[in-house]
Amino acid sequence: MAVLFLFAWLFAAPAFAKPQLAYGAQGVFKIVQFTDLHFGESPALDAQSVQLMRSILSSNDIDFAVLSGDMVSGYAYPRGTKPTGWYAARWKQLIAPLHEHQVKYAMILGNHDDEADLTRREIVELDMATGANLSYTCQGPTMITGATNYWLDIADNDHSDVSAGRLWFFDSMDMGCKGKDYSWGCVGADTVSWFSDEGSKLPHVPGLAFVHIPLCEHLSAWRYGTVVGSKFEPVCCPRFNTGLFLKLREQGVTSLYSGHDHDNSYSALHMGVRLAYGQKSGYGSYGPARSVPGARIIVMKKGEQTSLAETWIAFPNGAPYKQTTKQSSISAFQLRCAAGPHLPRRVFSSQALHRERSWLEQWSGPYPQLLSSGVVLLACGAMIILRSRRTRRDRSTARPVGRFRGE
Ligand SMILES: *[C@@H]1O[C@H](CO)[C@@H](O)[C@H](O)[C@H]1NC(C)=O
Repeated sequence: MAVLFLFAWLFAAPAFAKPQLAYGAQGVFKIVQFTDLHFGESPALDAQSVQLMRSILSSNDIDFAVLSGDMVSGYAYPRGTKPTGWYAARWKQLIAPLHEHQVKYAMILGNHDDEADLTRREIVELDMATGANLSYTCQGPTMITGATNYWLDIADNDHSDVSAGRLWFFDSMDMGCKGKDYSWGCVGADTVSWFSDEGSKLPHVPGLAFVHIPLCEHLSAWRYGTVVGSKFEPVCCPRFNTGLFLKLREQGVTSLYSGHDHDNSYSALHMGVRLAYGQKSGYGSYGPARSVPGARIIVMKKGEQTSLAETWIAFPNGAPYKQTTKQSSISAFQLRCAAGPHLPRRVFSSQALHRERSWLEQWSGPYPQLLSSGVVLLACGAMIILRSRRTRRDRSTARPVGRFRGE
């Protein structure tokens, strides 16, 4: 027991040493969400991504930064030579702008971060070690699925010991869901019950959450919610619903921001919850379509439901871009979650196949629907032809019968 307490103290001590996050003097807590930075594909692209982070951090008066997954393109790891410290080197590069500007931050993992030389837990350890007094990332409980499952309280600016807001972070893993599906991951059902249990024990305050992979409800939100922003690719949500949306509503966590789909950046209010994408922030990998990389700004206000929080897109050296219209492409007709094709993991590692997979992701959405609409049209056509032929035959045989009867 004593050993257990010692361990608890050892791990808890650094967290307590950091100052509590708090609303500012105006009762405002301003967050920047950098998503899908995709470092590691080329030094030139990485330099551009660093420049973007610098520019946005210097001109937006940020209280806190969230890195919402796929910070590093793990598939770019040189598998032949297997260099050690590869992920760590990319990591130091990408947190440097946060250190330059002394911006506190926390991260969640995406589906590509763990494809290089570190496991999910090792990446969290690395960040907690190299992030010094700026990293608020936590190692989540070991008995549930994923590593980055935790919350951070935001204190009242008038009473620093009273929590007035809360940020939740969820780990959506890297592949599959419930061990069967072939999507890019989901928040485990065990993690969802952990969230519900923890949330019920904590004081009830407005909450805002982050996850890498969008929920099934991101798609429903696009179709039925109040939407601003763009959808230029299918929503790549898991085909199983592990129930996070329901629990978010129960716990009064009224907004969830995701990443993953580089060409989607809409924000939708659906059944009282804001489901939104960040703006793709890195120059590596594909997207964002019809735009340039940027970041999402979210302004939390003390005492206000987070679904009402003001949010816009920040571009480097640009004016804030407030989304006001719903923009889409053929992907707007998507009816079900688009998952990647089922290929063994080692095939995914190469960059070339990654591009191909992105292409397949583009088409796995509308394609089955076009096909099924075609089948329905053909079936309707066949029925009309058959019916008209039968009526003609009926008429030709009925007339003589009628005549006989009449006579
Ligand atoms: C973090 O630590 C450094 C070095 O001790 C210090 O200069 C800096 O002000 C600290 N930053 C924050 C945000 O606490």
